[in-house]
Amino acid sequence: MSDTYIQNLIAERIGGNQYGKSHAIYKFEKIKRAKRAAMALDPGAEIIDLGVGEPDEMAFPEVVEKLCAEARKPENRGYADNGDGVLKQAAAHYLERVCGVKGLNPEKEVMHSIGSKAALSILPAALINPGDYVLMTVPGYPVFGTHAQYYSGRVHNLPLTEENQFLPDLDAIPAEVLGQAKVLVLNYPNNPTGASATPEFFKKVVEFARKNNLVVIHDAAYAALVFEGQPLSFLATPGAKEVGIELHSASKTFNMTGWRCGFVAGNELLVKAYGDLKDNTDSGQFLAIQHAAAYCFEHPEITENIASKYSRRMNALTVALAKAGFKAKKPKGSFFLYVRAPKAAISKDGERTEFKSAEEVSQWLITEKLISTVPWDDAGHYLRWSVTFVAKNLSDESRIVGEVEHRLGDVKFEF
Ligand SMILES: Cc1ncc(COP(=O)(O)O)c(C=O)c1O
Repeated sequence: MSDTYIQNLIAERIGGNQYGKSHAIYKFEKIKRAKRAAMALDPGAEIIDLGVGEPDEMAFPEVVEKLCAEARKPENRGYADNGDGVLKQAAAHYLERVCGVKGLNPEKEVMHSIGSKAALSILPAALINPGDYVLMTVPGYPVFGTHAQYYSGRVHNLPLTEENQFLPDLDAIPAEVLGQAKVLVLNYPNNPTGASATPEFFKKVVEFARKNNLVVIHDAAYAALVFEGQPLSFLATPGAKEVGIELHSASKTFNMTGWRCGFVAGNELLVKAYGDLKDNTDSGQFLAIQHAAAYCFEHPEITENIASKYSRRMNALTVALAKAGFKAKKPKGSFFLYVRAPKAAISKDGERTEFKSAEEVSQWLITEKLISTVPWDDAGHYLRWSVTFVAKNLSDESRIVGEVEHRLGDVKFEF
């Protein structure tokens, strides 16, 4: 394709006149291609997909019913703009009841989002001037950092390591970065490590933010998917509302990824700024969807039900991977099992395959074992195994995990 004048008009932030010309293939595309190639070689084979980052089931029937009923109401038909009071009230009530967050003002301190991804892409406009640093954890969900860079902000990565329980080492941030840093983005339970934060860590974060004039954005997309105890909200930390906001979403916690609904809560000025920018970005989520999401936040037992399924699957998968030699430890929440990638695999007939990265292991697992995982090479070499695989029923669920164990059973991994 020869260059047109359009090519020269593309903004530098996405590559300018080089946009679209790179032949680099990114991680998720490599996984897709390897799956396609494996299927082409053996069309009848079953690929076990443990790489999926979203729930395997539909929203609960009563939620779908609620959506239908709300969609029939004429008053819900128009632009929702920044939303009515229904989701705001439900969100504040949810945070109080489920996470012990007291005293949130639903009118001023809560605002809906068209999913957390949308909120993370809008918020940098409220905070980032050219040259400002954003502190982002890696591996992680990069959306806020990507948009901060669109505004000529800079990203400083905070590695999440096993030695530090996958919590960032705030004391290791260089002084010259900290001096120009404005925002700290956190996400617990964490994608991809599955790690959870602790009240002590959040307390430290509040103190750190105050001392260094930082805004904290806690992305709580997996917040209520916990296997023991109560979900932990950053906003339950004393002083949290003075330094930041938290993003909740119906996507993972209520099997509603395609519905696109969540909320932003916390610091009044930040919520207001988010609302002003949002108002200039979208016209709000369909009120029927907002009201169905509000129903969910009033029924946290739905998430408990979903979490107990993931917990059961996690138990089985942890055992299966441990038998194959992986150091698999069940996380306290999320649906991700994050395990160190092997350095080599030795097959029964003695053939040895060496791996330089988790990406190579993941490609090998698809090609040789028809098992799909997501590799992460940002801070050590790890594989993310997701328990949101599709199974017809309980016995199919056991069969699938048994199949993983069986397929890995004739290999010796070296770590
Ligand atoms: C950490 C994290 N934050 C946010 C999102 C996006 O959530 P939503 O569907 O609410 O946009 C995801 C989705 O994978 C995620 O993993």
